[in-house]
Amino acid sequence: MYLSRLIYYSKNNVVNTADQSAFKQIKSILDQSSTHNRERGITGALLFNQAYFAQVLEGDRKAITETFCHISRDKRHSDIVLLSANPITERIFADWTMAFAGKSDGASELYIRFGITQDFNPRKMTSESLLAFICELIKIDEHVAKFPAEKSS
Ligand SMILES: Cc1cc2nc3c(=O)[nH]c(=O)nc-3n(C[C@H](O)[C@H](O)[C@H](O)COP(=O)(O)O)c2cc1C
Repeated sequence: MYLSRLIYYSKNNVVNTADQSAFKQIKSILDQSSTHNRERGITGALLFNQAYFAQVLEGDRKAITETFCHISRDKRHSDIVLLSANPITERIFADWTMAFAGKSDGASELYIRFGITQDFNPRKMTSESLLAFICELIKIDEHVAKFPAEKSS
């Protein structure tokens, strides 16, 4: 297995509908993801706000490439920009098939630390700063939902 990490961002097309809040719809994306990611040994994190998604996928490079291609056809987002896809020696998100974070009050201090004045805008961030930001956010964000991964890999 060739362990790799892929990072992209995209335009969030999920909007509130009469029957479902945007947050609920994003939660359902993650529910869909968790089974598939567990089966394929993929871990990672998803960050979102009203405008963007940013996602980190870790796992075998073939598995994450296939999953990325699959995700890229999903109409719930568009304008996907691949920031990086590199070999890694270990996973950062080993414990989560997909951790996710929206914006919360507890995250405000971090937004300031990363020079984000209003809301995060991945178009203005590098792959490295986006990864560091997601890592910090996931550590402190009380709204983070953790989808546990199998502890085998
Ligand atoms: C922003 C975003 C991130 C997603 N991340 C994943 C993921 O990590 N793994 C996954 O299996 N599906 C992910 N999905 C959902 C897939 O695009 C797809 O809807 C889901 O895997 C079900 O596919 P199927 O209908 O072909 O079974 C994501 C969708 C979006 C919009």
